[in-house]
Amino acid sequence: MANRAASTLTVLGLFAFGVALHGRGEITVGAIVSFVGFAMMMIGRMEQLAGFITELFFQGPALANFFDILDAPDGLSEVPGAPRLEPVRGEVVFEDVSFGYGNGQMVLHGLSFTARAGSTVALVGPTGAGKTTALSLLYRAHDPVSGRITVDGHDIRTVSLASLRAQMAVVFQNPGLLYRSIAENLRIGRPDATDAQLQTAAMAAEAHQFVVRKPEGYATVVAEHGKSLSGGERQRLSIARAMLKYAPILILDEATSALDNATEARIQRALDTLVKGRTTFVIAHRLSTVRAADLILVLQEGRLVEQGRYHDLVSRGGLFAELEAQGRFTADPPAGSAGAHGRPATSASADDAALEDFA
Ligand SMILES: Nc1ncnc2c1ncn2[C@@H]1O[C@H](COP(=O)(O)OP(=O)(O)O)[C@@H](O)[C@H]1O
Ligand SMILES: [Mg+2]
Repeated sequence: MANRAASTLTVLGLFAFGVALHGRGEITVGAIVSFVGFAMMMIGRMEQLAGFITELFFQGPALANFFDILDAPDGLSEVPGAPRLEPVRGEVVFEDVSFGYGNGQMVLHGLSFTARAGSTVALVGPTGAGKTTALSLLYRAHDPVSGRITVDGHDIRTVSLASLRAQMAVVFQNPGLLYRSIAENLRIGRPDATDAQLQTAAMAAEAHQFVVRKPEGYATVVAEHGKSLSGGERQRLSIARAMLKYAPILILDEATSALDNATEARIQRALDTLVKGRTTFVIAHRLSTVRAADLILVLQEGRLVEQGRYHDLVSRGGLFAELEAQGRFTADPPAGSAGAHGRPATSASADDAALEDFA
């Protein structure tokens, strides 16, 4: 606005100056007209520049966010002209995968397992065992130091990163959000989703209620890294985002850890539906989730110490049986508690302990 007024005054000033010069016979009318015309064109360009700089200033955090994401896969090399990974069935194979964060210490030692397409794989083990790290290799947050990972037989390092990640929906342990509106955050994996699809996903993830209570609803801009939302709210948006994305491979890293029992129980039904037909990797502390898994991977200090189904592992009498016997997995909330709010005070500490060990 101030820009506009200043440019109008400048043009008028130039014109008046030209008229004065003309009065003294030093300039022709044609010269005044063409000079004022030239000045207006220059001013137009300057305004565009000022607008651009203003926008840059206000959009700064969003841009920084954007470059953070671009920069995230540091150290990863994408083969020049790497082909796209076409839509997959979802068979995932880890072949003798070892990894360390580059500080000389190895975090994963020779991990080998096969996740059949459409199966559910639960990763369990104490905090720091390497569960989150193992799954982060699947979406190539890092590359293994040795060994390889394939999806439907394709070494994930040989296909384009974007096409690999397009096949996966991830709910992180501590989900981040972008400095954008809630709607834009939800549409990340599926930009063409309709408003109706957006709402359906948000409802299934128990996010719709709190979103519409915000003054600007789905247009509410989330503060940087989602700090304006509670951990539980971010988790629910993140789940809605994964639901909307509809990818053949699903990664749920403690996806419901910040939710109260009642909310978790309501979302669980939607998650059960989501998981059907997809290859799902789940890091969870719920006994029911672990029991239902097609394959349980038991990690300890970066080693896969046991793998199998629930009953096999329990009867084997190894680490899993030990953890199970210690009651380290959390039982489902009783059916009646679905209407209650928050975790009952008595079981809160037990839940926290379970989270502590299996987060
Ligand atoms: N970004 C990182 N940089 C360095 N070390 C890390 C990083 N993330 C995790 N670690 C270490 O790797 C090990 C495995 O961690 P993590 O995969 O988060 O285990 P879990 O998910 O089973 O709790 C831990 O010793 C942890 O301290
Ligand atoms: Mg973890």
